[in-house]
Amino acid sequence: MLSKKIEEALNKQVRVEAESSQIYLAMACWAEVKGLEGVAQFMYDQSDEEREHMLKLVKFINERGGHARISALKEPNVTFKSFKEMFEKLFEHEVFVSESINDLVHITLEQKDYSTHNFLQWYVAEQIEEEAMARTILDKINLIGDDKGGLYLFDRDIQQLTVASSASTPTD
Ligand code: FEO
Repeated sequence: MLSKKIEEALNKQVRVEAESSQIYLAMACWAEVKGLEGVAQFMYDQSDEEREHMLKLVKFINERGGHARISALKEPNVTFKSFKEMFEKLFEHEVFVSESINDLVHITLEQKDYSTHNFLQWYVAEQIEEEAMARTILDKINLIGDDKGGLYLFDRDIQQLTVASSASTPTD
């Protein structure tokens, strides 16, 4: 059974994951209208993953005797100066999500809620992976600079990154 404090903290995270899904959906749209099909598909997939992160929390809250709250969301930014700026925002956002997960883990320890603590370890591992992926992408973008041919190849190759990351996604 979840304590009220844990339920509230988990519900806060539900909102963070839902807003992440919206942010990446807006990025997908921006990339798609710019003709960056590979980047757009990558962002659509990221958006879907964030919705899964949210659903996993929703189900956990409800199964543990709480009530998941589906709240209004903040409207995401929909335009970017460059695709580099867009990926910088993605990286910054993932760092923010990691901090949010860490705060949540901290609360579970304070409250001695070891089952929720155990449940959250999946998110801790996921954040390490997502931050690493965002950092790899930014490194590649910095290598490309203003080279149009490089951007073309990046847009093509990022789809493979998507395939590789979805192939390693656990199916539970
Ligand atoms: Fe669910 Fe990318 O944080």
